[in-house]
Amino acid sequence: MLAWSERVLPNLRAVWDKVEFSVYDAHFYESQDIIEDMDFIPLLRNQTRILWPIEKETLKRHGLARGMKIADICCGCGDVPLLICREFEPGFMLGVDHSEAAVEYARNLQTEFSVRNAEFQRGDATALLLGDDTFDFVTCRLSLQIFSQPEQILKELVRIAKPGGRVYVTGEDYDLIVGNPEDDLISKTYDRASVYGDQMGMDLRNGKKLYGVLSQARLEDIRAEHIVVDTGNTDRAAFAQVIESWRYFSVFTIGNQLHLNQADQDSLLAGYDAHLRTIRNPHGYTTWVMVAASGRKPLRQQA
Ligand SMILES: C[S@@+](CC[C@H](N)C(=O)[O-])C[C@H]1O[C@@H](n2cnc3c(N)ncnc32)[C@H](O)[C@@H]1O
Repeated sequence: MLAWSERVLPNLRAVWDKVEFSVYDAHFYESQDIIEDMDFIPLLRNQTRILWPIEKETLKRHGLARGMKIADICCGCGDVPLLICREFEPGFMLGVDHSEAAVEYARNLQTEFSVRNAEFQRGDATALLLGDDTFDFVTCRLSLQIFSQPEQILKELVRIAKPGGRVYVTGEDYDLIVGNPEDDLISKTYDRASVYGDQMGMDLRNGKKLYGVLSQARLEDIRAEHIVVDTGNTDRAAFAQVIESWRYFSVFTIGNQLHLNQADQDSLLAGYDAHLRTIRNPHGYTTWVMVAASGRKPLRQQA
């Protein structure tokens, strides 16, 4: 293989140390096509805009502090790890994601943020090329929900955490989204969206399961809480932008993959529109609730 390459590219040996080799598995998990697409990045960024002011306080309650060596696994387009760098001044931050588009975006964003002590790598969360017992704080946010076997990733998160370090995970839970007025339509819409999510291999009700997932991984001092974004603590226009991204993603991106018929698409659209009306109604109240959970890796491995 190398001999053939050298014939085709005669200068290959001279530049070999600058050559990067990467393998991209395009059929890795069910929703990969749509999650690892460039078009998914604005949705993530819209979410972060309203989530970060709340989640940075959550992270403090789960033990994130200055100077730590942190890994954010399934880091997406990088804005959260970079915001963590600004807010918490870690010793080092490593972001890992499987998506080529996301990692490239994160590297550019790092330049924009002028953050030095961070690095973004492509990698597989179920088989990380990182040493055992390396990080003080390991995060994996809003990602276990897209895998059919989140325990596999959790095993890796625990492996790379230092003994005494913490593993922090968050997850969507569409059962916890409520709104008024138009209560029924809003609840039914997220019910339906999670059924479509299931059909794409995504568990959009996994938030409530995270405590159990950490406890089965034998972590200690498990802390779990809701992260509540609502019309009381968040700018309504920015909240509406998130729901607009979800509306498009759910009705068109997922809808097309699942070949939803026109009537089902229209009824899903009507539901998201009801949610948007509630957000924009100055008398309306609604939530986007996730679950955050973390646990400490035991100092001594249990038998
Ligand atoms: C829903 S996004 C969440 C991204 C980010 N944590 C956030 O909250 O903005 C899930 C991310 O998991 C990444 N991902 C999926 N499978 C992965 C794997 N096996 N290893 C690493 N990253 C993976 C996707 O590329 C995507 O960026």
